[in-house]
Amino acid sequence: MTSDTRNILVTSALPYANGPIHLGHLVEYIQTDIWVRFQKMRGHQCLYVCADDAHGTPIMLKAQSEGITPEVLIERIGQEHREDFAGFLVDFDHYHSTHSEENRHFAELIYTRLRDAGHIARRTIRQAYDPEANMFLPDRFIKGECPRCGAADQYGDSCEACGATYAPTDLKNPVSAISGATPVEKESEHYFFKLGDFHAMLRKWTGSGSLQEEIRNKLREWFEAGLNDWDISRDAPYWGFEIPDAPGKYFYVWLDAPIGYMASFKHYCQQQGLDFDAWWRADSTAELHHFIGKDIAYFHTLFWPAMLSGAGFRTPTAVHCHGFLTVNGQKMSKSRGTFIKARTYLDHLQPEYLRYYFAAKLGPGVDDIDLSLEDFIARVNSDLVGKAVNIASRCAGFIHKGFAGRLADSLPDPDLYDRYVRAGEEIARHYERREFGQAMREIMALADVANQYVDEQKPWVLAKREDGQAQVQAVCTQGINLFRAILTYLRPVLPAMAEKAEGFLGIPALTWAAVQQPLVGTRINAYEPLMTRVDPQAVQTLLEASKESLAPTPTQPQGPLTQDPIREEITYDDFAKVDLRIVRISRAERVEGADKLLRLTLDLGGETRQVFAGIKSAYDPADLEGRLTVMVANLAPRKMKFGLSEGMVLAAGPGGQDLFILSPDTGAQPGMRVK
Ligand code: MSP
Ligand code: ZN
Repeated sequence: MTSDTRNILVTSALPYANGPIHLGHLVEYIQTDIWVRFQKMRGHQCLYVCADDAHGTPIMLKAQSEGITPEVLIERIGQEHREDFAGFLVDFDHYHSTHSEENRHFAELIYTRLRDAGHIARRTIRQAYDPEANMFLPDRFIKGECPRCGAADQYGDSCEACGATYAPTDLKNPVSAISGATPVEKESEHYFFKLGDFHAMLRKWTGSGSLQEEIRNKLREWFEAGLNDWDISRDAPYWGFEIPDAPGKYFYVWLDAPIGYMASFKHYCQQQGLDFDAWWRADSTAELHHFIGKDIAYFHTLFWPAMLSGAGFRTPTAVHCHGFLTVNGQKMSKSRGTFIKARTYLDHLQPEYLRYYFAAKLGPGVDDIDLSLEDFIARVNSDLVGKAVNIASRCAGFIHKGFAGRLADSLPDPDLYDRYVRAGEEIARHYERREFGQAMREIMALADVANQYVDEQKPWVLAKREDGQAQVQAVCTQGINLFRAILTYLRPVLPAMAEKAEGFLGIPALTWAAVQQPLVGTRINAYEPLMTRVDPQAVQTLLEASKESLAPTPTQPQGPLTQDPIREEITYDDFAKVDLRIVRISRAERVEGADKLLRLTLDLGGETRQVFAGIKSAYDPADLEGRLTVMVANLAPRKMKFGLSEGMVLAAGPGGQDLFILSPDTGAQPGMRVK
């Protein structure tokens, strides 16, 4: 063991609080957790914090569509995330939320320090605005026709049909993905972080060995392209923290997201009585390691260290990027059933299978990682069950039956054991450098040697010889000790299996330091199977279940009224202005290029209206034709991308499949006024 203890603070990226954890995310959390568990086993003070990333437009809109407040949404998702991580044995020292008082404190502190040091600029910009929803539109909420190939329904940054990239203002016939309205341009003052002020600082930081080769190369490109000012403000309505000196302006989610690392740690320090400043002040000797996916490197290797430095805090010791997960060689796909949620996996398979498989595939670089399900089954069964566990199951029975569980007083082959102890240092070096795949290969090579040893010594033959008893005990004691070393080295990856093994060996938690001494002369407990084989049928069922989980599930934990409070009171006259009429839907049609809309032709008993209604997700047009319903007949007509909408039909519900248009009782006739 290294003589001096390190103080290491470790983070994984903060998952967005608007969706479930899936196997892609888990590459990161499992990678980080393995590294952290390794450091702890080496005797270092290593703390692992994370949080939900709880702000931003998508979370605001998702809450709206479910008819709940963002607070209720992030509370629910935060709970689900915690359960999913626990299910995969990802053991955070603290898990927090960016929507917390600690985070507000640090976001304001960092912002004001940057502002006071002259690193914040203000200027007015023009942006797409949704006149219907009354809000500025993030790029990904603008859709339209591709300026290059004309494909319909493309997002504001790139075309899925021809691959062109462009600005949202280049889209032809743009519409807001929120309301379907045509966006207009509107001016607003924004706040910018002057990243260029940190050019020299960032050059130095990136040269300090904090980054992987591939990421350093990327940074070189970014430096050459120039460090632009970063827009850190958003206009109301926005779900986030208001900027202290700018009412109606909010911090962009990516400003307060990484600050969430500090906030989570702060909360932990308060609970544990730790000195936060010792870890975060500019001259701190503690280490700070961020594990992230390569997609968010820009934020973590430019904005984040610059913000920290500008606000007088320490910068990260290292940012470790990993690649993306593919399943069976392809992007995760909902229709193929390979978009697998953490929860669905846990319903069918053991978490440690996946932890081991990811470990075996992970290297220090940013290459993508493929989960090939056939390979997954074969690898886990042959390595873990066939090799590692096998050693214990072959030796334990003899010790238990023949010697009342007592191990021999010394090892018959101390040199062989020494080889295992020395291999441990090499394996530790691999863990430290995140060369987990290499570590797993070396551990499995040790397991091969141990199995060979047992094969050669043949305790089952010795056991039948009268003079063979002492040798059986010796050989099996040797086998158990080799197994114990192997399990020690696997423990960061397989903590639950290691714990079972500790119980069976009757020893405290396995560490590298403890392996130095062999386990002799003590009593072990009865062996119980440490791991069962992966059942290929369970993998099939998992894929089927993942296809099913595509169907939108209504998520309505409370009654609609508690989630969608009654609005402010209006007068009778206000109400009387609304002209509600019974209408017959004479035609209902899909609209080319519109995701959500149906074109309805409504018969008001003499007069006909065309109305576009956002109910496509809930109704088959054929089922609507001939039906009676209720419309607002005196709503000002609105020009939409697909034509004029002359009124509105009434529907209730959170959205998706859960939308319900109103039906009058029998006897009502088209044209009747609703009073
Ligand atoms: N909220 C931001 C991170 C803020 S950190 C201050 C975010 N959230 S995320 O939920 O989209 O992703 C969380 C992490 O999971 C990121 O590091 C991301 O790279 C990683 N992954 C998400 N999908 C992934 C795969 N399919 N494969 C591997 N990692 C992936 O980004
Ligand atoms: Zn195109």
